[in-house]
Amino acid sequence: QIHPVILCGGSGTRLWPLSRKALPKPFLPLVSAETLFEQAVRRVAGDDRFAALMVVAGAAHGDVILAQLGDAPGARLVVEPCARNTAPAIALAAALLPEDAVMLVCPSDHHIADPAAFRAAALAAAELARQDYLVSFGIAPDRPETGYGYLQHGDSLPGGYAIARFVEKPDLARAQEYLASGNFSWNGGIFAFRAGHLLAELAAYRPEMARLVRQAVAEGREDGACFHPAAAPFAAIAGDSIDYAVMENTARAAMVPVEMGWSDIGNWAALADALAQTADDDGNIGRGGRVDLDQCRGVFALTDGLRISAVGLEDVCIIVSGDEVLVTTRDGAQRVGKLPGAVNQ
Ligand code: GDD
Ligand code: MG
Repeated sequence: QIHPVILCGGSGTRLWPLSRKALPKPFLPLVSAETLFEQAVRRVAGDDRFAALMVVAGAAHGDVILAQLGDAPGARLVVEPCARNTAPAIALAAALLPEDAVMLVCPSDHHIADPAAFRAAALAAAELARQDYLVSFGIAPDRPETGYGYLQHGDSLPGGYAIARFVEKPDLARAQEYLASGNFSWNGGIFAFRAGHLLAELAAYRPEMARLVRQAVAEGREDGACFHPAAAPFAAIAGDSIDYAVMENTARAAMVPVEMGWSDIGNWAALADALAQTADDDGNIGRGGRVDLDQCRGVFALTDGLRISAVGLEDVCIIVSGDEVLVTTRDGAQRVGKLPGAVNQ
């Protein structure tokens, strides 16, 4: 069986004002009536190829997670005392699993249109993870996105490739070069590892982090379905992502290419793209009811209350949430997280 580990962290400021600190992106019903977290749970629930799932998250979101988990049998919640990025979060899960367990690390805030393709890729990735590869899901790139990791294809392996080079968040010039070469995939942020192998690799590249995670687990406390790592050693960790801490350094990185309609819904324009099939003939999308668009094209308008009326706009996103209104071009959507409203929530 594969052990799914769902990560919930980060604040998703680029989807402000709908995504707020108290209820960030994973817990919002963005693409369908289900939230992204609920979709992540359902992709691996009720399938006996997957073991009971583990969720790693901060204490602030414990209640919403338990509510949205529903009755997922045997689910375990690991409560981080503070946020230290993905490498410690993943290492906590690994330290709580048997050494030979194959873990499938899943972000909680992605949309995947084809869950069956996701599960098929998970099986292929698990097979490589059993042979002590650190396996990433590779997505075919369609633009020089600088917010992703890039995987250079190396030798062929069953179901995928060795990764010749893993480059996390390159600058634009390098991203353009990688895209043009045709020899790179994006890192989808979904990983398969053998738990003991991941911890050994972490100990090689970030020994202090590995030691503090083990200590936080050894001194941690079980409380029903929740596990609380000890706060002092965990807080002493210098935070880092799994991409920088391990994947860029390891000699055992591999990838499985997968086409599954993947989007990390990185900003409002990306959400509009994920909802493209609901657009009208002019490419406009109205969500939440009261939206009146006249002579508009490519407008994405979403409201949780007030009516939105617009005339003569093109390629614009209008978001109304509670007492906040956001208006941005599609191109500007990437910058929303830097607005004072998003920063000072
Ligand atoms: N539990 C926990 N604790 N989860 C966390 C933490 C943390 O401290 N920090 C982030 N996460 C969760 C996020 O909620 C998300 O589901 C996932 O881990 C990845 O973190 P992001 O902060 O969204 O990473 P990113 O988008 O900048 O980059 C990663 O994902 C890209 C694809 O979406 C990298 O893996 C890139 O290489 C990759 O291309
Ligand atoms: Mg992300």
